[in-house]
Amino acid sequence: MSNDSAAPGRALVIIPTYNEAANIATIVGRVRAAVPDADILVADDNSPDGTGNIADELSAVDKAVHVLHRPGKQGLGAAYLAGFRWGLDRDYDVLVEMDADGSHRPEELPRLLTALHHADLVLGSRWVTGGRVVNWPKSRELLSRGGSAYSRLMLRLPVRDVTGGYRAFRARTLQGIGLDEVQSQGYCFQVDLLRRAVQHGFTVTEVPITFVEREHGVSKMSRAIVIEALWRVTTWGLKPQPRRRPQPAAPAAAPARQE
Ligand code: GDD
Ligand code: MN
Repeated sequence: MSNDSAAPGRALVIIPTYNEAANIATIVGRVRAAVPDADILVADDNSPDGTGNIADELSAVDKAVHVLHRPGKQGLGAAYLAGFRWGLDRDYDVLVEMDADGSHRPEELPRLLTALHHADLVLGSRWVTGGRVVNWPKSRELLSRGGSAYSRLMLRLPVRDVTGGYRAFRARTLQGIGLDEVQSQGYCFQVDLLRRAVQHGFTVTEVPITFVEREHGVSKMSRAIVIEALWRVTTWGLKPQPRRRPQPAAPAAAPARQE
């Protein structure tokens, strides 16, 4: 079968969900329309509102849609780790992170996937020229910009949007950054994966996106998530940073871990 998609290879879009019953069918439909060659994995933490059942119904009528049922709410990081393992076990070449609530517009995904031809990790970025945020309260924008700036400084990361959750990874990137050692549970998972990719010398590119605040359901951002992020980023930043070494240019064989 020919592969005329924008992605360098077979792509899996992973959508973590917790109480997204009002959003899940819409987002799955939009992803299917925007990137028809990509598969979808919904990683649901046994949402009390029945998101997992709706995902099962979508999966029953569309073999490109898969569902990973998890026993309970364990955080965004844990859901993505399980989703990545599911996808790597099935030999997907590209793994995408996307929120369920429509904030990450599927229509922009072909641009991220195209950029992945020349990178190991592509970040959908709100804080580069051309990127923006629609309908966010000022307080939330300040928190996000502040969190990004603090993490960038502490960890010397060469990108603007450090905490965003709209990303495309090459499989070799995830295989090379030590997923088994990742402990981050909340949204600092995003910072954690990015810092690992940079440390291991993978090429990271930012693509501007328009982040649109959700219309249905509520954010799962919490004080605990902010506190976890603050202490983890601070701890990482105070540790001596391992020297960064470039990976061989992509596409190449999966890299060995560098000590
Ligand atoms: N399975 C699972 N388990 N999914 C979760 C969990 C969890 O514990 N917590 C959140 N999610 C899912 C939500 O259902 C949604 O699909 C996605 O993760 C993002 O959650 P939101 O609650 O909508 O996040 P946000 O809009 O406040 O935060 C966004 O911005 C952050 C800062 O830039 C996200 O894009 C984050 O990834 C990002 O770090
Ligand atoms: Mn959201």
